[in-house]
Amino acid sequence: MSRNYYIAGNWKMHKTRQEAAELAGALVEGLKDGKHKYLVAPSFTLLETVAPIVKGTNIRLGAQNMAVDVQGAHTGETSVLQLKDLGVQTVILGHSERRHLYKEDDELINKKVKLALRHGLEVILCVGELLEEREAGRAEAVCETQTVKGLEGILVTDLANIVIAYEPVWAIGTGKTATPEDADAIHAWVRGVIGRLYGAAAAGDIIIQYGGSVKPDNAAQLMAKENIDGALVGGAALKADSFVPIGKFS
Ligand code: PGA
Repeated sequence: MSRNYYIAGNWKMHKTRQEAAELAGALVEGLKDGKHKYLVAPSFTLLETVAPIVKGTNIRLGAQNMAVDVQGAHTGETSVLQLKDLGVQTVILGHSERRHLYKEDDELINKKVKLALRHGLEVILCVGELLEEREAGRAEAVCETQTVKGLEGILVTDLANIVIAYEPVWAIGTGKTATPEDADAIHAWVRGVIGRLYGAAAAGDIIIQYGGSVKPDNAAQLMAKENIDGALVGGAALKADSFVPIGKFS
């Protein structure tokens, strides 16, 4: 088992180029002695600005989404080739905002996962249940389905380039965090699903991030849990003052 903590910031639809450059510069400085793996995922329009700032540092460059097609007549979409051309190393796929606001389903997300892997990108595959699904006792089943379908056809040899992010939808941007115990239970469940699909070694190695109102003051308790291997941070990733302490939790 060789799991390192992986702390990722999803900037969502925030920042101008100047603000992004300032934030990226502050993160490079603040995290340069950080011990974990880091990533920032700015909007497409900011990638070219942020790329040279994080290049050669311990912060990876990520995109928040990607088209399912490689190129062609797809107005408003961004291709894996265009992302790679800008130095993108990782793509976040299946974020709940993509699933629920933009109606991306498991089949589409699975195609994107395969395309990203084929082009050598690391994938952060997000899974997570809605509040009504949790209240109906279906959190495990929903996360299981999203994991199984998201990874359909993915070989065990590709798993090193896959990270799972468990993000309960009711905890995203709401200030409500899952308790470390509740989050850990789902992480353990998802790890069990990976074990069933790919075997115990793969289950032991896969990084499972938690996302949903992660803040400097709750990061350490979450990360202390056996099955929580990192964080996918939204709101608190928009300021170095909050992302750096999360990245250096202890
Ligand atoms: P939040 O967002 O930290 O603002 O809750 C998390 C996410 O959507 O990745």
